[in-house]
This record gives sequence, C-alpha cells and structure tokens, in this order.
Amino acid sequence: MSIPDIAVVPAGDGPVTPVHVGIIMDGNGRWAAARGLPRVEGHRRGVEALRRAARAAGELGIKVLSIYSVSTENWSRPEQEISDLMMLIKRFVREDLADLHKSGVCVRVIGDRDGIDPEILRLITEAETLTRDNDKLTLVVAFNYGGRQEIARAVKRIAEDAAQGRLDPATVDAETVDRHLDTAGLPDPDLIIRTSGELRLSNFLLWQSAYAEFVVLPLYWPDFDRTAFEHAIDEFRKRDRRFGGLEARARA
Ligand code: FPP
Repeated sequence: MSIPDIAVVPAGDGPVTPVHVGIIMDGNGRWAAARGLPRVEGHRRGVEALRRAARAAGELGIKVLSIYSVSTENWSRPEQEISDLMMLIKRFVREDLADLHKSGVCVRVIGDRDGIDPEILRLITEAETLTRDNDKLTLVVAFNYGGRQEIARAVKRIAEDAAQGRLDPATVDAETVDRHLDTAGLPDPDLIIRTSGELRLSNFLLWQSAYAEFVVLPLYWPDFDRTAFEHAIDEFRKRDRRFGGLEARARA
C-alpha cells in the first residue's frame, strides 16, 4: 500500500506565533553519557539551555513558556541524581530570580506541593510573590508534576465544592475542570516541543494539550538553542490547526 503525500497547508494569513509553548526537556543524561561525563553535568548544561529558552521565548513574543522540570515519576531516580537536581534548581532560583524579574518574567509553579523540601517551597513562594505582577512572559515550572495527578487533584476540589454546596454537580463541564487545574487562568499550550527524539507526552499537561501541536527535535536538551526554538516555531506555522473542525480550504 502506498501512502499518498499530503500537502501541509499553512493556516491563517501570515506567521502566527504560538502564545503558549510547553517544553519537555529530555536528554540531559544521554548528552552527558555521549561525552563520558557524569549525568549531573548534563543537568547543569540543561539549566543553561533553560536560560537560553526563557530569553528566546521573550524575544520571540511567546507569552507563556511551560517547562517540565521534575515529574512525579522522577523521584524514583538514584538519590544522588535527585539531590544534584534539587541543588541545581535551588541555585537557579537564587542566581536567576532577580534577572527574570528584571526581564518582566512572571514565575508560576505547577504540581503537587505536598511533602516537598521546605527550602524549595520557600524559594517557590519567593519567586511567585516577587514576580506576580510581571507580564512580559509567564514561566510555568512543572515541579513534582504529573498530568494525571493534577486532574485527580482538580476532581477532588470539584467534589469538595459540590459536597460543601458551593457547586451544583449538574453544571460541571470542561470549563469547570479548567478552573480547578493548577494552570487555571492560563491559555492551553499551542505547541509542545520535546527534545531527544522521543514521541511521548510523559504525563505532561495531559488535559491542556488536547489540541496542541507536537514538534519533536532530534537533539538533546543541553544543545537546545534559539535556532532550534525557531525551527520548532517554523514547524508549528506549517500546521493546519483545525480544533476538530474543517481545514480552512474545506470551510471556504
Ligand atoms: C531530562 O533528561 C531532564 C530532566 C529529568 C530534568 C530537567 C531538569 C533540568 C534541566 C534542571 C533544571 C530545572 C529548573 C527549574 C532549574 P534525562 O535525565 O531524563 O535524560 P536522559 O533521558 O537522556 O537520561
């Protein structure tokens, strides 16, 4: 059977910049292994790539950048790697928060805060409080995050509201769920980028990505730079987003 070549029709009247981009930063370990370096070196270079990504996002006119920093599943890694990651995250907040604030970045952290290191919790509160009124770019950091767990927490809050008589169960719809998610008030991601070639969502923004476009890059996260970011956006611009409706050509 031969598969016909389907032309991708660019959507809209001109270059569209995604409002919200999510990034699954994958491949730090492989980047290090390929160079005979310890995994922590890959994570350290990963933080540098994150700095580049945040800067580029602001320059490219993206309004929300969500990054998958630590998943609920990552805790099963060896103790030393977890402690290296925590050290890098704490250092990132201490060293970069002032610059992020100066650049107009609003930091928002999503994920389960129960049982996380009190020092990290303090840094999260500090970052969110300091940057709360900034509006150039919202940097959403998924920490101790899992999409299924987030949806379960939202369902729990909805059930509590219903039990307390604050909400009529008959009125629950997709918008109600949206309002109870950690990402309440944020637009859904238009584009999800994953590095290192894996074709998986890995429990990242499951609900919110219903109509996101996926771009998978064949490079490890520490090598991500502005050129790679622009390439992903160019790919996004070639897609014909239909949100379950008809493509522009068929509608005309
Ligand atoms: C994936 O590489 C990366 C991670 C699990 C961690 C991502 C974290 C950072 C870049 C650290 C910084 C975050 C903040 C907020 C400062 P991997 O280890 O899964 O790589 P592999 O699949 O090649 O082993």
